[in-house]
Amino acid sequence: MKKLEMLYEGKAKKVYKTDSDDSYIVYYKDDATAGNGAKKGTILDKGIVNNKMSGMLFEMLEKEGVPNHFMELLSDREQLVKAVEIVPLEVIVRNLSAGSFSKRYGVEEGILFDQPIIEFSYKVDELGDPLINDSHILALKLATEEEIEKIKGMALKVNQVLSDFFLTKNLKLVDFKLEFGKHKGEIILADEISPDTCRLWDTETGEKMDKDRFRRDLGGIEEAYQEVMKRLEQ
Ligand code: TMP
Repeated sequence: MKKLEMLYEGKAKKVYKTDSDDSYIVYYKDDATAGNGAKKGTILDKGIVNNKMSGMLFEMLEKEGVPNHFMELLSDREQLVKAVEIVPLEVIVRNLSAGSFSKRYGVEEGILFDQPIIEFSYKVDELGDPLINDSHILALKLATEEEIEKIKGMALKVNQVLSDFFLTKNLKLVDFKLEFGKHKGEIILADEISPDTCRLWDTETGEKMDKDRFRRDLGGIEEAYQEVMKRLEQ
């Protein structure tokens, strides 16, 4: 597959056209941002870890019946994906309180919910990705009722598959963010699943093994990403 011109550059990835209209090439960078770009930095070899980990998890999810954009790894930092038109929503699933949930509702981190929470943000950087509900999504015509239900069902399935898998690696899946896209009219899972987009806590020590180490200046960020990848490959 030939890599053609760059279509889009995001905070952590670049997307390129290919000689097929049906696929894109995604390049994973080491760039890291937090707080909607307020904090910027580099996490050495993050792109390599996230490319590999996303590929591995998407492959697992496909087998478990969650259709997604992943096709194949092309190199350390590149993967071939199905071309999608992104639904402009960040779909967040939470199993335990943390991050913006704890801040917004004034609760400590680490409270286990009776059932997972699904939350949507409207993906518009200039607006700061505001929280949005089903009625807003319908009013803004971002997705249909049927698509919202499909997205929620897929997000819960991803949560079940990944929570079980991470637990076998002594990692607690606290929360994560997904993005969905449309490929040939069908909603499929897209974007990435990595320590950039998940909160992962060591089940024994409670240590944070994800991008919170960067967001909160905890140090040991490269080591945490490498350790997660090592555990996943074992
Ligand atoms: P939050 O607690 O900051 O809302 O984040 C919830 C989860 O979503 C956490 O695992 C980090 C992830 N996330 C992203 O991947 N990208 C984002 O832009 C945001 C706000 C969160």
